[in-house]
Amino acid sequence: MGGIDPLYILPEEYRPKLIITDGEDIPLIDLLPITNRDSSDPKALQELADKVGDACKTWGFFTVINHGVPSGIRKKIMEVSRKFYALPLEEKLKVRRGDHNTAGYHNDEHSKDIKDWKETFDFYVNDGMLMPASHEPDDPEVVPWFTPWPHNFPEFRETCQEYGRECEKLFFNLMELVSMSLGLPPKRLQGYFENQASFARLNHYPPCPNPELVLGTGGHRDPSALTVLAQEDIEGLDVQRKSDKAWVRVKPIPDSFVINVGDILQVWSNDLYESVEHRAVVNSEKDRYSIPIFFHPSHDVVMKPVDELVNEQNPAKYPEYKAGKWLNLRMYNNYKKHGFYMKMT
Ligand code: SIN
Ligand code: FE2
Repeated sequence: MGGIDPLYILPEEYRPKLIITDGEDIPLIDLLPITNRDSSDPKALQELADKVGDACKTWGFFTVINHGVPSGIRKKIMEVSRKFYALPLEEKLKVRRGDHNTAGYHNDEHSKDIKDWKETFDFYVNDGMLMPASHEPDDPEVVPWFTPWPHNFPEFRETCQEYGRECEKLFFNLMELVSMSLGLPPKRLQGYFENQASFARLNHYPPCPNPELVLGTGGHRDPSALTVLAQEDIEGLDVQRKSDKAWVRVKPIPDSFVINVGDILQVWSNDLYESVEHRAVVNSEKDRYSIPIFFHPSHDVVMKPVDELVNEQNPAKYPEYKAGKWLNLRMYNNYKKHGFYMKMT
């Protein structure tokens, strides 16, 4: 088994060999009509929204170009991410995730109880806010809400925050398109993000001597509304095709973002758009870096299918649920179960 820690080794059925490379890929969408909206006609905008809707329905995933996020800031965040991971482990552990801060560094993430072959730094897009006191008595433990930034590395913090702000603009454009595709007013869902709990994740997947036995990020669905993912030219993201559950490897397109539907949009759309299983594989030679941003509504938003989309023929498939409670259950309970600070082998 190449001497790798058994905590990382996947049961046979989850190993990454089941990849399908039949040339199919997720849809590619050019966002120019919305990023350049002043010179676009409304028809082009609705056509674009329809394309986004189709992609959400058929794949739950799509790649976007002409997205408006400046390439400079994206390059810069990849650079500071590399610099951060090059620090000695004890430096990184100084900003680790813990009981009193849910963001920060960690190298002990598990998917489906198997350890992921990666290290990660999470930061909040809307940093410095306290978790609103909106939790009900039966909510899981209330967690504070701030990012522990490394000292003596101001460039890291500034770059991460600027990158978050730029991606947020892209996210709001995407939410307009998603709303239009559902026949809703463009800004119908925007108010849910006033105190957003969105967070970004700087992933580093080191080379692994036995990549066929492990996953960088095990198969999962995102708890977000939408996720905006930046990857470089080293492939690794696999998406489960809805029609036959085959794994399809996404081809990295320079300077593009991969967008996916998360659980919250699945609930809002009453299952019209589904959150789709995906994973990240690793390789034996190259470090891979990726940055997903999980766009989450405010903790006190009550999630439920959007009123305009339900009726007697199509009743709500989900009960009402607090968004903060959902995030707690999905994210934080998972790491509490497995403890912290395990060493990367
Ligand atoms: C993720 O789904 O969280 C990570 C995907 C990737 O690294 O490509
Ligand atoms: Fe994901």
